[in-house]
Amino acid sequence: MNGKTCLITGGNAGIGKATAVGLAKMGAHVIIVARSSVRGELALADIRRASGNDGVDLLVADLSSQKQIRQLAADFQQRFSRLDVLVNNAGIIPQRRQVTEDGLEMQFAVNHLAYFLLTNLLLDVLQASAPARIVNVSSMVHGWASLDFTDLQHERRYDPSNVYAQTKLMNVLFTYELARRLAGTAVTVNCLHPGVVGTKLYANYMGRSQTHDASNSEINQGAQTSIYLASSPDVADVTGAYFVNKQTKRSTAVSYDKGMARKLWDISAKLTGLPA
Ligand SMILES: NC(=O)c1ccc[n+]([C@@H]2O[C@H](COP(=O)([O-])OP(=O)(O)OC[C@H]3O[C@@H](n4cnc5c(N)ncnc54)[C@H](OP(=O)(O)O)[C@@H]3O)[C@@H](O)[C@H]2O)c1
Repeated sequence: MNGKTCLITGGNAGIGKATAVGLAKMGAHVIIVARSSVRGELALADIRRASGNDGVDLLVADLSSQKQIRQLAADFQQRFSRLDVLVNNAGIIPQRRQVTEDGLEMQFAVNHLAYFLLTNLLLDVLQASAPARIVNVSSMVHGWASLDFTDLQHERRYDPSNVYAQTKLMNVLFTYELARRLAGTAVTVNCLHPGVVGTKLYANYMGRSQTHDASNSEINQGAQTSIYLASSPDVADVTGAYFVNKQTKRSTAVSYDKGMARKLWDISAKLTGLPA
């Protein structure tokens, strides 16, 4: 990965941080996105130490804010000249319904709309750097969800795990729709389930305030499919696929519904102020 630039959201903790270490170890120039500069700086030092690579940088942005996502994309393009790999990884499961500064339900905003908006804002630089790759971290729990377009903001009912599963289905629908739109370019996009790892997010999913601290090797294991999709020559030409344990796997039947994917794309474009 020498000479490659990789941007990883949620790179200050959990699977994203382990992905950053893995790619930095391979020689990539890694840039992590964190919402807290303090947590970001601490992670930066850890990632540099663990990888032996000083070429790791930090950009600070709260991905629940579309204004900050736009600023992040602008900062990235001002500071860095190329982008070979974008890993959309940051995720969240608030136990109570929260609303972002843009008036959107928090999980929908961070887990889906941030992937959608950041990717679209960085598509030009990805295409200019091609061959390039987009990696979307989803989850196997996407298979338990169906989308309710009449209540995407979950105003009628908020069940944290159910809302989470819906956003993870959106990650898969977004991946497949984007792959169709990028057909014929040298930019690939794939999604994955990382495995079950005892991170902060997992504790929230289980409705616990705390869980055991996952060991480094457990978290590292959870990063392997992201690292593989970001770096392996085996998947250089693979796009529009869902991976588990570095293997393609069929995602849930509804995730292949092109009409649903287009509808989600159109709604997402409208909510983020992008052209459809
Ligand atoms: N753990 C599992 O078992 C599991 C299973 C399937 C899929 N996944 C997926 O794996 C990905 C990573 O999750 P994880 O388990 O590694 O969780 P984690 O340890 O809780 O890490 C989540 C990361 O996202 C960041 N983040 C959350 N909200 C943000 C915001 N508004 N702006 C910027 N960054 C934000 C967090 O930053 P802070 O440190 O500031 O909170 C943290 O860096 C997620 O997409 C998740 O859905 C995880």
